[in-house]
Amino acid sequence: MSETTASLTLGDHGFALPIKVGSIGPSVIDISKLYGQTGLFTYDPGFTSTASCESAITYIDGDEGTLLYRGYPIEQLAEEGDFVETCYLLLYGELPTASQRNDFDYRIKRHTMVHEQMARFFQGFRRDAHPMAVLVASVGALSAFYHDSTDISDTKQRMVASMRLIAKIPTLAAMAYKYTIGQPFVYPNNDLDYTSNFLRMCYAVPCEEYKINPVLTRALDKIFILHADHEQNASTSTVRLAGSSGANPFACIAAGVACLWGPAHGGANEAALKMLEEIGTVDNIPKFITRAKDKNDSFRLMGFGHRVYKNYDPRAKIMQKTCHEVLQAVGHKNDPLLEVALELEKIALSDEYFIEKKLYPNIDFYSGITLKAMGFPTAMFTVLFAVARTAGWIAQWKEMIEDPGQKIGRPRQLYTGAPRRNYVTIDRR
Ligand code: SDX
Repeated sequence: MSETTASLTLGDHGFALPIKVGSIGPSVIDISKLYGQTGLFTYDPGFTSTASCESAITYIDGDEGTLLYRGYPIEQLAEEGDFVETCYLLLYGELPTASQRNDFDYRIKRHTMVHEQMARFFQGFRRDAHPMAVLVASVGALSAFYHDSTDISDTKQRMVASMRLIAKIPTLAAMAYKYTIGQPFVYPNNDLDYTSNFLRMCYAVPCEEYKINPVLTRALDKIFILHADHEQNASTSTVRLAGSSGANPFACIAAGVACLWGPAHGGANEAALKMLEEIGTVDNIPKFITRAKDKNDSFRLMGFGHRVYKNYDPRAKIMQKTCHEVLQAVGHKNDPLLEVALELEKIALSDEYFIEKKLYPNIDFYSGITLKAMGFPTAMFTVLFAVARTAGWIAQWKEMIEDPGQKIGRPRQLYTGAPRRNYVTIDRR
């Protein structure tokens, strides 16, 4: 990686800061020695201009609306590939050969079941618990069942834990769903592909044969590909920070699930659908657009805007197309919510406020309508996001653990509290 330098002048002192150049995208100013040289920290709450690591996994160009997994455009992967192949690509860096793919499939299928005692773990929850609360807890609980793959210094244990997480997250997600609707858990069926298996665990009942719908399976598989990874987003950064302390992979992924739940992040798909339902009809849209622009109103158009994309989120385009395919397949092609979403997008994209702030639909804008049409309750939308993102979280965690230069993440602060002062006894306060 070639290097040049940036110069910083403080009073009459000059400092040379190395610039590191990546393969594509913005270069970085290496400030790791800044505090030692100047006694100053940098300040960047929200990390709007901060690169936290080097990574070779996912590349986003927010201005162009480009998303690459290991160099492959998301549009091609979604169209030509499938989710398990994407998991392999994110983990190993290359598309699998036929034999590598067969071996990967076999290794996933060896781990789709969870320890039978975990089923009892679910009984502790209220039936009306949010499935994300159940998922956070049950992913964390994996570390209580799989002690033989928690030693992160052991390459083999790291890989077993990675396969266990990719294989078990759909099983746990389906169990979380079944528990909330009071239906019995459905065991995985290893004769099925990954996504058909997940749909069957969600929708099969003991009293009748479950029929796979290939259109819905393909649509959900594509949705999983779109959600699989996204550079150093909030939940991935959470996984990396947790992993930097040496915490076991199950605990790190549970931390990622917890962070994803927020409405500003993975919870936006649930929030976006609720917003569309609240808008209800096309003629209510102007009122909500006004609210979204009102500084005194905390309302935001959920599913709009992105920290990185200042152009159309490439995933949202594919999501919109998939939404039409699913609505067609389930016979809801005139879903009023889609009509509201399309009109809201049209009005927002021609509104000066959204144009000036470069606010476009993101991946969450159309996913809610699609998942609802597939029969998922709103509360399951972020769970589905977590099923897909587990592949990216694991790949990013693995890259960090295998980086010889990695160290515990420990940011500093700008202190604005009280200077040193002496204790005052209560009688003198
Ligand atoms: C995901 O990081 C990732 O990669 C995330 C993700 C992934 O795959 O991991 O892509 C998944 O989380 C997608 C984003 C889902 N969230 C939402 O749809 C929630 C609604 N969007 C916003 O909350 C917001 O756009 C964020 C959180 C997504 C981004 O926020 P930023 O980058 O911190 O931008 P900001 O909040 O500073 O907003 C910039 C301006 C502000 O106005 P000013 O203060 O400059 O006057 O734009 C406004 C905001 O008020 N704004 C919006 C808006 N989003 C930003 N105004 C109305 N509606 C919105 N949705």
